[in-house]
Amino acid sequence: MTQGAEAAQPAGEVVLVLDFGGQYSQLIARRIRECGVFAELLPYDVDVDEVRRRAPVGLVLSGGPASVYEDGAPKLPTELLKLEIPVLGICYGMQAMVRELGGRVEAADKGEFGRTPLSLANGGGRLLADLPADQHCWMSHRDSVFEPPPGFSPLASSPGSPVAAVESAERGLYGIQFHPEVVHTPHGMAILTRFLRDIAGCTETWAPGSVIEDQVERIKAQVGSAGVICGLSGGVDSAAAALLVHRAVGDQLTCVLVDHGLLRKSEAVKVIEAFRDELGVPLFCVDARERFLDRLAGVTDPEAKRKIIGEEFIRVFEEEAERLPDVSFLVQGTLYSDVIESGGAAGAATIKSHHNVGGLPEDLDLELVEPLRLLFKDEARTVASELGLPESIVWRQPFPGPGLAIRIVGGEVTEERLGILREADAILQEEVRAAGLYQELWQSFCVLPVVRSVGVQGDGRTYAYPIVIRAVTSEDAMTADWARLPYDLLERVSSRIINEIAEVNRVALDISSKPPATIEWE
Ligand code: XMP
Repeated sequence: MTQGAEAAQPAGEVVLVLDFGGQYSQLIARRIRECGVFAELLPYDVDVDEVRRRAPVGLVLSGGPASVYEDGAPKLPTELLKLEIPVLGICYGMQAMVRELGGRVEAADKGEFGRTPLSLANGGGRLLADLPADQHCWMSHRDSVFEPPPGFSPLASSPGSPVAAVESAERGLYGIQFHPEVVHTPHGMAILTRFLRDIAGCTETWAPGSVIEDQVERIKAQVGSAGVICGLSGGVDSAAAALLVHRAVGDQLTCVLVDHGLLRKSEAVKVIEAFRDELGVPLFCVDARERFLDRLAGVTDPEAKRKIIGEEFIRVFEEEAERLPDVSFLVQGTLYSDVIESGGAAGAATIKSHHNVGGLPEDLDLELVEPLRLLFKDEARTVASELGLPESIVWRQPFPGPGLAIRIVGGEVTEERLGILREADAILQEEVRAAGLYQELWQSFCVLPVVRSVGVQGDGRTYAYPIVIRAVTSEDAMTADWARLPYDLLERVSSRIINEIAEVNRVALDISSKPPATIEWE
């Protein structure tokens, strides 16, 4: 499989966020985009010529976990401060800039974490002008700035940060110790807007939907008259990518849905209806349910399951691809967060290796088309929605490639157990949607532990399976908290599952966060 053309920066203004390893770096880029300015995340040590080439209207330096005075701490290239591009340093980014320019950064007696009072000085200067003199912000730091660099004015202080914001308006350099990108800083978006609109002079005209025409042109140029194949899973990423490609090259695209029998209730049907019947995208569904079940017979080890499903998926997909004439391109719904996390954003450090079951083989002789490489998931949703995808798919919660197979735990995956789990899951989804909570939850699903317990129903004793409800809130699946579902919802789900599914006599609720648990049980 060969890498397709790198999705280039869209025409128009761009802000570069230089990543010093902070946990909120991606969020900074997302927030800037929400302000209508395209933002990209690059590593802090990006070549200065690369920055010049991209001609950003502003630079934002992210936070990071290091101490600026430690050996080996990420250092801000001084030349970046001489490009005459406005710079906003956030947390570590501010400290790195202050230290580089001769200010004093040291460990403070106590760190500041969480909601912190902030008092403005010097009227807030240019960056914080017109904001309340006393406000709250979200802090996360141990070191503090004690003296600004020569020529800089202090703009604010907090109990643990003598200098919590600085600027040199004539040089276009600004810094804040707190995090404007998190919702707990009430004036955070106003500060970002001030920097973008008034200081960097941005026009704020970017919107996720504005990539559509641009990508359509790029896809046409990349693909020419060749055939393109896309594996649809029912998830929003592959769906949005497929729709963009269809908009560009029409019926040169064929979508393939591999029904491995591990999908949720009616999922394959819904995807077929949406794509083939409503949107007119050529799609065929391969019924591979028996093949997968045969290969999973007798397998209980979670990793073995994942491997078998991954391999079988590739085999089925390859067989289908070979059947189609003249296919030279493969569409993938790779998102910007995948690109960053796999180190693809101009060499950013690998932050985590992400799950890739349902991924495709390296030796498939196809060139990749990845029209969402620059978009975050919520932006891909907007694009999908603008391209006509029904809301039920646009807002679908994430679903793992190996599907229900990794939710049958401690025993073999059988047709009977899949049937039980599918029904229980459908009841949960229905009730969660009816309660208006579906979009608030990162994921909500059922797990079937292969154990039986005693119950009593009618006049008889039962010996049946339990179902575990797992519902979590999360920003990015790296951490998650168990969702506090209302008791009346839990009661409805529990009684419906037990009454409607004869093989289940008990419903339990998983109240573990990630870490130390994971979202899925396997
Ligand atoms: P965990 O269970 O590691 O999951 O907390 C984090 C996110 O990844 C999804 N997940 C998978 N997705 N193939 C996938 O495509 C997999 O094998 C897989 N395992 C977990 C999970 O649903 C959650 O959103």
